[in-house]
Amino acid sequence: MPKKKVVITKKTDKPAEKKVAKEVKKTKRSKKDLITVTGMRDILPQDQRYWEKVRAVAKQISKDYGYDRIDTPILEYADLFTRGIGSQTDVVEKEMFAFTDQGGDDLALRPEGTASVVRAYIQHGMLNNTQPVKFFYMGPLFRHEKPQSGRYRQFFQFGFEAIGEDNPALDAQLILMGWNALNDLGIESVIQVNSIGCRDCREEYKKALVKYYKTKSKSLCESCKTRISKNPLRLLDCKEDSCKEIKKDAPQILDYLDNNCKDHFMKVIGYLDELDLPYVLSPFTVRGLDYYTRTIFEYWAVDDSEGKNALGGGGRYDSLVKILGGREETPACGLAMGVDRIVAKMREKNIEVAEERIDVFVAQLGDAAKKKAMVMYETLRKNGSFTVSQAFHKDSLKKQLEIANKMRVKFTVIIGQKEVGDGTIMLRDMQGGVQEVIDFNKIERELKKRLEKYREGAVIDLTQGEENNNKMSGNVSGGINENEEKNEEIEATERLDLE
Ligand code: HAM
Repeated sequence: MPKKKVVITKKTDKPAEKKVAKEVKKTKRSKKDLITVTGMRDILPQDQRYWEKVRAVAKQISKDYGYDRIDTPILEYADLFTRGIGSQTDVVEKEMFAFTDQGGDDLALRPEGTASVVRAYIQHGMLNNTQPVKFFYMGPLFRHEKPQSGRYRQFFQFGFEAIGEDNPALDAQLILMGWNALNDLGIESVIQVNSIGCRDCREEYKKALVKYYKTKSKSLCESCKTRISKNPLRLLDCKEDSCKEIKKDAPQILDYLDNNCKDHFMKVIGYLDELDLPYVLSPFTVRGLDYYTRTIFEYWAVDDSEGKNALGGGGRYDSLVKILGGREETPACGLAMGVDRIVAKMREKNIEVAEERIDVFVAQLGDAAKKKAMVMYETLRKNGSFTVSQAFHKDSLKKQLEIANKMRVKFTVIIGQKEVGDGTIMLRDMQGGVQEVIDFNKIERELKKRLEKYREGAVIDLTQGEENNNKMSGNVSGGINENEEKNEEIEATERLDLE
């Protein structure tokens, strides 16, 4: 595992000084362009609605199936992953951001979430809770992979883990949950399913694999040559064309499952059939993490013809709790979905995510009005029935209305000097442009009522009058558009009504 040591130097420490100087030089170079670290990126405000949508769907799924949120630290002891994921896996061997901290602890940025959740399950004695304990998580993960499309060094997942149950219905339901999440986001996907059996039947299978691959060793890539002795299952993961060709005739794990594992898998498949999920049996899917046992699965977009970027994956990991120090064998199953890839797929497919529209904008004109508006804003903000916005940093009403217009708010309430004096407020329907003077104390109730009608899709005809003492503002009509003509109208409004 490559480690970067944090070097604390003394002035006399010559070799270390040299090392520090080298690092300073490196820093100087990168300081020239203050940009994100390779493989990491900013998620800008204009993209947030896609991410929010994915998070909202994930949260809804967690509620629908009873999975409770857990947040684990981003930094863990490195051996949690070395032991949990397996020291021979690419994730641990090549991709882990691992380092020794100032206190001498070997730490790692988490490359995945499952090992951390299992650590938390053990650490907090959840073995004694009603089983299974069902967790939901979301957050960033880190893998030092070669950056390319759909592959980042900081990426995001949401995931579900159910610990303490081996019933195959749980596997099927987890598979369904991941598929539902994609479906709810408008992404059509197909699920690749396989079983890699328990440790016992896998040993038999590994022997058969080694035997087969030894006969082909001359045609294998260099990495696969070492995989034969080190980690034969990884032979099936190789992306080299020559190795892919050899894989086609390799023995299949399903032929090596013992009766219990076969029966478990058949039940999972039976549930998937009953749920009418689009799955394919994928005998060479082994997944890149060593903790899996029995059922494994991956989600692929139906149009990902290159088969490069799985949208998510998961499986059963019946031995992991014990491996990480749990008292007894504790069956478990889970999945994680890649948020970056899901968002990319949504954009590629032009799946629209509506921008959240603010309900009410609070505008003001004049010093006294600004003070009153600022206080009123706090009341409206706490009302909870509608969303609010403002631009108190602007003095010009025209500018404020332009901002409100850009936000496509439904209503603007306007307070001017006149309104401060007579205890009223002007309510402007931004769609129709009609304005109405309302008693200041009735504004919350009025907004709530009108927004309810708005949401029901009713056309609000302000000219028909409400049962309150509203009076139409006689000199204002028409909508506020971005064109000049309308701006002049706004100016007129400013002059006529608010001075
Ligand atoms: P994984 O297959 O390594 O599984 O990752 C799950 C998903 O995370 C992938 O299908 C992909 O969408 C996304 N992903 C992985 N690496 C990257 C990357 N470098 N850039 C962008 N997206 C990425 C796990 O992590 C397991 N912990 C899943 C699991 C949960 N198994 C049982 N429970």
